[in-house]
Amino acid sequence: MAVLSKALLALIAASVVVGQSPPYGQCGGQGWTGPTTCTAGWTCVAVSSPYYSQCLQGTTTTTATTTTPPATSTPPVTTSTPPATTTTTATPPTGSNPSTGVIGTDFEGTVSSAWSVIVTAQSGGSATIDTTKAHSGTHSLKIVSTGGFSNHIFYGLSNLTALGSGDIYGRYYANFLNAFNQDHTTHMMMTDPVAQTLRMGGQFGVLDWNRASDDSIMPDGSPTSDAGSIAIAGNTWYCIEFHLSRTTSQIETWVNGNVISSLTTPQTRWGSAYIPNPSNWGLGWESYGSDPNTVWYDDIALGTSRLGC
Ligand SMILES: *[C@@H]1O[C@H](CO)[C@@H](O)[C@H](O)[C@H]1NC(C)=O
Repeated sequence: MAVLSKALLALIAASVVVGQSPPYGQCGGQGWTGPTTCTAGWTCVAVSSPYYSQCLQGTTTTTATTTTPPATSTPPVTTSTPPATTTTTATPPTGSNPSTGVIGTDFEGTVSSAWSVIVTAQSGGSATIDTTKAHSGTHSLKIVSTGGFSNHIFYGLSNLTALGSGDIYGRYYANFLNAFNQDHTTHMMMTDPVAQTLRMGGQFGVLDWNRASDDSIMPDGSPTSDAGSIAIAGNTWYCIEFHLSRTTSQIETWVNGNVISSLTTPQTRWGSAYIPNPSNWGLGWESYGSDPNTVWYDDIALGTSRLGC
């Protein structure tokens, strides 16, 4: 403990001299000669060890309420430990905003029949109301997927008529048992006339959007664009928000209230021509490698203006 504290002090002292990387900026990796520490509240994470480390929203904001120094839970920049299993990339949100919006549910009490499994091709998987984990109250939606393309399951709304034809805003809390790895996965899907399926998931360890029609992804997989997204840790609640404009091509994404710059259009390979126009909405799990996961969702809602966390 004493040694770590000294190391931390040395790190802090050094950072005063050499400067600090900004949120989502690079802070380490092979050949990197720039700053190796992040601004307050952000943690340098080896997201693609040993090639690339970036500043992600860190655990330091919790230090006020814990006696454990942040250094003990933060992997050093030079570690080869995968960030997925060692890093809490965000402080669990504590919103008091369970199910606002035009249509939503917190899974407490009787859930409206508007909510159901909308797409499934599942062997050994399930969608159930569960009481082992919840963001608010005592109930959540638990998705179990055995992994693989032919084993997907999505729960949500079979139509979006309640939202009219204007902009769509969504907000959900998600807790993934397994952290995102390099493989491509989907946890939110919408049927769309152009994209066929517009989906939110993960690839290269970070949150991404994907169109089934041409398999375009944003971010585009380059270290720079991936650095503008966010690594998703296991067993951690995230508040994910999105905005789809049905009059312009605008897509926006927030996690725990923070703008995710690489998930905001326009992006490389995701131009302004595509205007999303989804007809349904589902949360669940699908993997295109072989990545089983269990995901809890809570306080899910769609609306016509931003919902917040
Ligand atoms: C559309 O969804 C609403 C719930 O939002 C439901 O009451 C209605 O029956 C659905 N309509 C169709 C055609 O499925």
